[in-house]
Amino acid sequence: MKNIILIGFMGVGKGSLAREVIKHSDYMAIDTDDLIESMENRKIKTIFEDEGEAYFRSLEKKVAKWLEGSVKNTLISTGGGFYKQKNLNKIGLVVLLDSPFDEIIKRIKKHPNAAKKLKKRPLLADLQKAKALYDERRPEYLKRADIVIDVTKKSALECSKELLKKVKKYD
Ligand code: S3P
Repeated sequence: MKNIILIGFMGVGKGSLAREVIKHSDYMAIDTDDLIESMENRKIKTIFEDEGEAYFRSLEKKVAKWLEGSVKNTLISTGGGFYKQKNLNKIGLVVLLDSPFDEIIKRIKKHPNAAKKLKKRPLLADLQKAKALYDERRPEYLKRADIVIDVTKKSALECSKELLKKVKKYD
């Protein structure tokens, strides 16, 4: 079993999908933002505020190196900017969760914890800037992906079935 690495824009549902997939498979799951928060013993938002984005990106790079050398049989969900890591394809099979920007924002807003979800993501604070970031990144996401899953209006369960089916073809 190869690692699966989930990439995609903030709020697209990488974490929710990972939690669903582990219910229906033998994969273990980890999340790069969670790893960074535990390495630093502080929240992503605080790391951005105290040290700036470049420092956060250097931590992502360190995580990427570690994943490549040390992690197997795992479903790895990542922060929205993790796709930039050069060794992504050496870590595992890259799966993009894709959806239009407006749908992603709708998805976040309908969540019971919407305010918290928006607050913890510094790069979503200004929606106009976030949309520009989305437009810049989407072609790059598509370039890096081995598999694309359109998650628009689909449940986590539906997406997880689709993911496991598509991944099987790479066995
Ligand atoms: C970021 C996405 C966030 C987190 C950080 C930066 C990005 O993760 O890594 O705030 O650059 O898109 P999520 O995609 O889980 O929100």
